[in-house]
Amino acid sequence: RPLVFSGVQPTGNLHLGNYLGAITRFVEMQDTHDCIYCVVDLHAITVWQDPKALRTQIREVTAAFLAAGIDPKAHIVFNQSQVSAHAELAWIFNCVARMGWLNRMTQFKEKAGKDRENASVGLFAYPNLMSADILAYRATHVPVGEDQKQHLELARDTAAKFNHDFADSIGELGLGEGNEGFFPQPEPLIQGPATRVMSLRDGSKKMSKSDPSDNSRINLTDDADAIAQKIRRAKTDPEPLPSEVAGLKERPEADNLVGIYAALSGTTKEAVLADHGGALFSAFKPALADLAVEKLAPIAGRMRELMADPAYVDSVLADGAARARAIAMPILNDVKDIVGLIRS
Ligand code: TYM
Repeated sequence: RPLVFSGVQPTGNLHLGNYLGAITRFVEMQDTHDCIYCVVDLHAITVWQDPKALRTQIREVTAAFLAAGIDPKAHIVFNQSQVSAHAELAWIFNCVARMGWLNRMTQFKEKAGKDRENASVGLFAYPNLMSADILAYRATHVPVGEDQKQHLELARDTAAKFNHDFADSIGELGLGEGNEGFFPQPEPLIQGPATRVMSLRDGSKKMSKSDPSDNSRINLTDDADAIAQKIRRAKTDPEPLPSEVAGLKERPEADNLVGIYAALSGTTKEAVLADHGGALFSAFKPALADLAVEKLAPIAGRMRELMADPAYVDSVLADGAARARAIAMPILNDVKDIVGLIRS
């Protein structure tokens, strides 16, 4: 079966965009793929995190995975820092990827802001660690939201350059898989009606963990009242919903709410508009709030139960890390041999 890898950063405020753009997709892929889902704690510390809060946030992302329906026995759930292959392979990729490639990363530019001199070196090199996450398992399928597309392109370029730079060594060691080289080209899976969930306060900004306005996002830990209130207060325009998807163009707020409805109900925007076309937001918003509460409140409840038992959550991570290590270490050893490093 094809191997899936994806990760979520434990930086707090896990939100509806993470859930619909990534976590629900992770859940769906379990029947048809072998899946590795990682709480990427080493990525989180590219921006300073309070150590106590970080520990809670790592468990919270783990709890969200489990509460959403990821099966940690059939698949692998772990936190990145427990498998040293990620950091080791990232160093090798730091030496393969080019400054120019990383300079083009829009997420770095956004996160570093104007004061680039003051950004951590880790924040700049972050995409190489992400390439290492995926390629340490030679994973081929990577479900992500739209905002990760550029990082996946970089991972593909890095895999190709490694295969090219070390082609002779790979051949001599007999480690090429077919004519592809040692590393496969990982494929981003960016699908469904919610690959880019937007802020509830501003339809031109994506929903984000770091938005200072809590009303801009629905957190996975929000209770029913908070969910309903945030949807009621969401920015909209005064027009009724169109009956065709084409009518959502130039209406980013309407498009966003229809996309959220579609993703929560497991249908398409077309199907939502077939049912709700012509409705005013005064009618559509309460329907969306009911749906969101119905789908999200049970997850928040299960997350709370899991968070009350941190020893259990940590045991899931330990078990997943041991199984992840067993896959990644032989691949990392091959990489060391390919590069010409001596190991004993
Ligand atoms: P992160 O932690 O920012 O987000 C986790 C996942 O949620 C998706 N996402 C969204 N989807 C739709 N609408 C939104 N508003 C929205 N906001 C976030 C993200 O696209 C992502 O899929 N670099 C990654 C984590 C990572 C990773 C990896 C992913 C590290 N290593 C290897 C895949 C493979 C990140 O910062 O995601």
